[in-house]
This record gives sequence, C-alpha cells and structure tokens, in this order.
Amino acid sequence: MVTSEAVSSGVDGFDAAVLEAVGFEGKADQVHLQPAEGGFTGLVGLGPAAEVTEATVRRAGAVVARSCSRHARAAVSLPGDVSVPAAEARRALAEGVILGGYRYTAFKSSVGEDDGGDSSRKLARVDVVGSASAAAKAAVARGAAIAAGVCVARDLANEPGGSLTAPAFAEKTEAVAGAAGLEAKVWTTEDIEAGRLGGLLGVNRGSTHPPRFVELTYEPEGTPTATLAYVGKGITFDAGGLSIKTAQGMMAMKMDMCGAAAIIGAMSVLPVVGPPVRVKGYLPMTDNMLGGDATRPGDVLTIRNGKTIEVLNTDAEGRLILADALSLACEEEPDAIVDLATLTGACMVALGPSIAGLMGNDGSLIDQVRAAADRAGERVWHLPLPADYVKQFESNVADMKNIGGPHGGALTAGLILQQFVDDDIPWVHLDIAGPARAESDDAEITKGGTGFGVRTLVELASGYTRPTQD
Ligand code: BES
Ligand code: MN
Ligand code: ZN
Repeated sequence: MVTSEAVSSGVDGFDAAVLEAVGFEGKADQVHLQPAEGGFTGLVGLGPAAEVTEATVRRAGAVVARSCSRHARAAVSLPGDVSVPAAEARRALAEGVILGGYRYTAFKSSVGEDDGGDSSRKLARVDVVGSASAAAKAAVARGAAIAAGVCVARDLANEPGGSLTAPAFAEKTEAVAGAAGLEAKVWTTEDIEAGRLGGLLGVNRGSTHPPRFVELTYEPEGTPTATLAYVGKGITFDAGGLSIKTAQGMMAMKMDMCGAAAIIGAMSVLPVVGPPVRVKGYLPMTDNMLGGDATRPGDVLTIRNGKTIEVLNTDAEGRLILADALSLACEEEPDAIVDLATLTGACMVALGPSIAGLMGNDGSLIDQVRAAADRAGERVWHLPLPADYVKQFESNVADMKNIGGPHGGALTAGLILQQFVDDDIPWVHLDIAGPARAESDDAEITKGGTGFGVRTLVELASGYTRPTQD
C-alpha cells in the first residue's frame, strides 16, 4: 500500500516511467500489478498521506483481496508515512481483506473450479508484513474476528427465505452461539404463546412455518459494568402478508432479517473482544406470508406489554414483532436498548441506499451510537421522533394503528416502536433498510447482504459508558 507522496518520490522495485505511463498515482482505490516470480507484485493506492483514515486502509485491504483472488497466498505491507495509528491500520486492513474477499457460495455448484466466475476465488492466507509483535498480532486478530462476525451476518442475510425459515434461523443462531461461547435460549410456539407475544404470533399467522424467539446472552468475565439490550428484526421473508408486495418489491425480501443477523454476527465476536458489559440479544423470527388464516387488515393484536395495535397494513410487520421484543427487553431494565431493523422503504427514500436512519429517546445514547458507528466506518444519520406525529397512528378501535400517514414513514415507524419502550430506558433505533443490502461490490462491501451494523454494535459494546446520573 502506498500514499500518493510515496509514488511521486519513487517506489522501490517499480519503474517510475511505467507507473506514469499507466496513470498510477497512488490515489485511493488505484491498483497497479506487475508480473513477478510465481505471481505478481502490486501497489494499492491510499491517496495523500494526510487524508488516510482507517476507512481508506479498510478499502485498500478489500482491493488487495480482490486483486489477489486468483492466488492462494499474498503478503501486504502498510506504509509508514500515514498518521493512522499502527494498531488501527492493521485492524482495518484485516477487516478490509476479509470483507472484500467475501463471497456467498453456499448454492454455487462449481465452487473451487477455476471456471472464470466468482468461484475461482482462491485466496486463503494474507500475511501482514511487519506484524510480528504481540500488539500487532492482537490488532490483526481483532480486525479478523470482527470481519468474521460480519461474514456470519452476510451468510445469514444471503440465505434464501425458503431455506432459512424461522426454525432454521433459530437453529443456526444456536450453532453460532455454541461455537462462540454465548448462551442461547430458543422459544418455540408454545413458549411464544405462553409469553403472549401477540405481535409475533399475528405476523406468523399466514405462515406454514412456526415462529421462533431467540434470546442470546454474552456474559463478560467479572461483574458487568452495564447491561445492553440488542433487539433485531428477524423476518426471514417479507411477502407483505395480505397487503401483498409487488413482484419487484418482494425480490430482496429474504434480507428482512438483517437486523437480527447483525446482532448474531456482532454478539458472536464479543467473547473474542471481551468488553466488560453484559449484552442480551432479543430476536423475533418469522416470515410474513399470506396463508388462509393470515392476519387481515383490521385485525387487532395484543402485544406483550398489553398494548393493542390495529393492523391496517400487514406489510408493516416489523414494528409488530419488534413491539413484543422491545417490551420484553424493557422488563429486564437494561441500561440501554439498541434495535436494528430493515424497517421502512421510507428510510431509503430519505437517506438513500448506504446510510442508516438513527432515532432515539436519549441524547447521550444517540451520541454514543453515532460515535461508535463513526469509529466503525458505518454511516448513520440522526432523524427526529416528532411527538406531534403520534396522532397519525391513532386508532378508533385499538390503542394505535400500525401505520401513519403517507409521508415521513421512517419517523412514524420509529414512533410506533417508541410506544413499546419505557421512557426511562435510553433507546436507539437504527433503520437499516438501505445499507443492509448492496446492489454491487464497492471496496469492503460485497453485492448482497452487507452485515451492516455488526461493526457498530461491537464498537458500542467495547466503548460503552453508562451516563453519569446527577
Ligand atoms: N421490510 C420492509 C421494509 C423494506 C423495504 C426494507 C425495502 C428494505 C427494502 C417493511 O416490512 C415494509 O414493508 N415496510 C412498509 C411499511 C408501510 C406498509 C407502512 C414500507 O416501507 O413500505
Ligand atoms: Mn413489510
Ligand atoms: Zn419487513
């Protein structure tokens, strides 16, 4: 990896005239490869030294993985002339290499054959030159662990809805938890009925697969300094229910469980990273289908906390299952709740495909989540929860409707969730409908499920500080 300054002053082993002729200036994302014994040597640009951040290194790591994908092994060195601290640079590099090299191959019949397609990827090992010290190894290992957590989320996101049903999702979650050293408790239909999770049962009513509710627990060594609750939307396929989606609108709806997947991926890393906080995951799982006894527009559901919702659009199902999960999370009085959900198309209209909407009831937690996302290199933008919009979902027959008016749908969805969070518990909602999925490869992002949120959640747990009471 080279900065543009290094390229201007000449790079050992590369002919300056050649670099100039091919236009390689060391700009970010630029690559130059030249043949060498048994493979090639290459330069990956980072841009001007003063502008290099962790994100630049992460992107460059992904470029390395893509450029070397036809080779089994590669070695990469970080430049010495950038101001990113060495540990952060190594960590970002490891993240970039693993994330950029990710492919979902579970349903490819020809993986491993050099057929010129994606399945020709061979890269199995990347050495980071000059990382022999214990501190350097730890930094690389931390980046690799976090990236592996992102890949857990991506694999779950990319699995088809007919394969990853709620019971299958719960089983996979248990397997991930078992391997990582987390506690997992799976609620079956009976447990969900006994627990009066009326939102989850109502959404599941049109399905032939039973629902599941999974609780995950990460218990730190020693007395926890705080307890965080992570709540994730786990709709394994969103057909919209009787308020059926269009063919176009349904195409990517196997990804409607990305909130839950991000939590599973993030929590799988916590035993490696070892933050001193307890983290509990609350994951409601079902698909949203159109069976003969599916919830009808006009039906009223009673959520775990006793509040009732009139379902006027069965496609606004995420808030129904999250209502149960948020109510349950509140019962255990955590220090903070963060929920992640592919909740609204409206949030994508507002912020586009790459930025998550961030809403919440507590300025200090909002700041902490925003800072964690910034450090993690995931993009979020704070949106308001205007109290006067609550009247948009007043109902004649129940405590509320499940939809607001025609505009500001991301905010009314957030406000509906807020009805199930105790006012005295700090809570943040991340609407990840846009960034959970990518249309094309871009540096460490790969087409399909992105694993958005994993890095932010790990970072939040690692750096979480309880607001001081006064
Ligand atoms: N899962 C969708 C939201 C979504 C849309 C995520 C596009 C990713 C891409 C959600 O369940 C939904 O259908 N929301 C409705 C709400 C509406 C009926 C109030 C929407 O956004 O249209
Ligand atoms: Mn929906
Ligand atoms: Zn949905």
